[in-house]
Amino acid sequence: MRRAVCPGSFDPVTNGHLDIISRASELFDEVVVAVLVNQKKTGLFTIPERIEILQEVTAGLGNVVIGSFHGLLVDFCLEHEIRSIVKGLRAVSDFDYELQMAQMNRRLADVDTVFMSTNPLYSFLSSSLIKEVATHGGDVSGLVPEVVTSRLADKITAAGHGG
Ligand code: PNS
Repeated sequence: MRRAVCPGSFDPVTNGHLDIISRASELFDEVVVAVLVNQKKTGLFTIPERIEILQEVTAGLGNVVIGSFHGLLVDFCLEHEIRSIVKGLRAVSDFDYELQMAQMNRRLADVDTVFMSTNPLYSFLSSSLIKEVATHGGDVSGLVPEVVTSRLADKITAAGHGG
């Protein structure tokens, strides 16, 4: 079975991520979306919330499963018999660091990285920009799944922001 991992923080998942996940699901038998658990960084969404959202938005993709990992991505890959990492490249500026990580992951384990060009509709998108815009009342609909738009609104209301 050809299995790939789409790793990331997904705080929150954007339509750019979803585009890569769904295209990867056409190339591989199974795609594992793996959420990084970073003990040093608290995000806007908790890890269970990110997983729940990812499960909801990928429910229509039969060969996509959601997981989480901490530590090295290659250890997660070895544990789950994954030989390929799929990453989206938004711009040349992404490439330097991504190439370094791909070569390190290849050096650490027999794991290759497959780069996909991001859909130009989403090439300016990042989770942090989405959070910043949404926190200040900007419209992020069309850039993230609908469930993310409404969950962002809930978070912002609960935090007493919104203007
Ligand atoms: O969505 P992000 O935060 O840009 O994703 C980055 C991620 C999780 C893909 C990357 O930081 C990662 O793979 N972290 C795991 C730790 C690791 O394996 N580091 C060595 C990379 S060579």
